Amino acid sequence: MSTAEPLLEVEDLTTTFSTDDGELMAVDGIDFSVDSGETVCIVGESGSGKTVATESITRIVKSPPGHVEGSVRFKGQDLLEMSEPELRDIRGYEIAHIFQNPQEAMNHCYTVGWQIMEALQIHRDVSNEEARAKAVDLLDKVGIANASSRFDDHPHEFSGGQKQRVMIAMALVGDPDLLIADEPTTALDVTVQAQILRLLDDLQEEFDMGILFVTHDLGVVAEIADRIIVMYAGKVMERGGVLDIFDHPAHPYTQQLLNCLPDIGGNTGGIPGKLPDPHDPPDGCRFAARCDHTIDACRTGQQPEEVEVNPGQKASCVYYRPAHDDSVIRDGIQNTEPDTTEVGSADD
Ligand SMILES: Nc1ncnc2c1ncn2[C@@H]1O[C@H](COP(=O)(O)OP(=O)(O)OP(=O)(O)O)[C@@H](O)[C@H]1O
Ligand code: SF4
Ligand SMILES: [Mg+2]
Repeated sequence: MSTAEPLLEVEDLTTTFSTDDGELMAVDGIDFSVDSGETVCIVGESGSGKTVATESITRIVKSPPGHVEGSVRFKGQDLLEMSEPELRDIRGYEIAHIFQNPQEAMNHCYTVGWQIMEALQIHRDVSNEEARAKAVDLLDKVGIANASSRFDDHPHEFSGGQKQRVMIAMALVGDPDLLIADEPTTALDVTVQAQILRLLDDLQEEFDMGILFVTHDLGVVAEIADRIIVMYAGKVMERGGVLDIFDHPAHPYTQQLLNCLPDIGGNTGGIPGKLPDPHDPPDGCRFAARCDHTIDACRTGQQPEEVEVNPGQKASCVYYRPAHDDSVIRDGIQNTEPDTTEVGSADD
């Protein structure tokens, strides 16, 4: 898809919530795209707007109180302009979501096979036999051993990792072109997490899906991302290819996030301070209160325009404006190759 238009193209996406304390700006005018076959990771601390951004794409963000503006073109059609019935044909089908906690996303009263069949039959007029065959096939594809006999088991009979595999099977019923996965491995232990990431990678290759993957865990990003979008307080701070971002992160926020990784900076206590109040974001750079390089220019106007700092890599920081000395921040972190070591193969 390198020459054609992207599978997903998000422009000026803005999502606000009406709250008792006034309007809350959760996502503030962000742009990004996802191509078929690539994995784009949105990273950032808790509260930075990752979930709201991805849930705004298919408008599953609750409205009211949410209000979504901008443009979200999926295969050329603007999802934000579509009627709810039109969108329903795409949501859960051409665009599938996987959520963090399979426990909550499944119905405990029904067998997992029935739930996959139902997900399929909502969208397609297929017989029970066909739906059952497809459900067993999907369970098999996501690595559930003895899929046809596990079909009639209830969710509580599956381990956490297996439940997440079932959720992935459910997401695949419509052969989605785009899979949106929001922290899908956070609830799992490290070994199982690695298996799920590898499964997603294999399925992506098989189905040529675009994947939009949300996580606050840069270790996971190193495993799975082609490109990274770094979000902070509703804005994009930096974007670029995974190797560029890990090898020469350009934005002080990205640098501090990387410094929190045990095998890079070792600052496992996290970045000191907290995000600005989303009801009343500060002028200038949203990160100014926590940045080690803040100068007066950081505190006026809007979030700095993103500037290309290397081919394909952009950062939103005043130091990349003409007449500023970006060497001050370019050296914030160095030689941080992602750990792309093959993951173990123990079974969950
Ligand atoms: N329904 C809602 N009503 C009001 N505010 C909301 C609502 N949903 C999210 N927000 C606010 O929007 C902001 C972004 O939240 P979001 O859930 O997108 O963060 P996140 O980056 O996904 O964080 P996490 O890593 O904890 O999942 C936060 O300030 C949050 O409190
Ligand atoms: S604009 Fe200023 S506050 Fe923001 S990241 Fe750059 S130096 Fe830090
Ligand atoms: Mg979230």
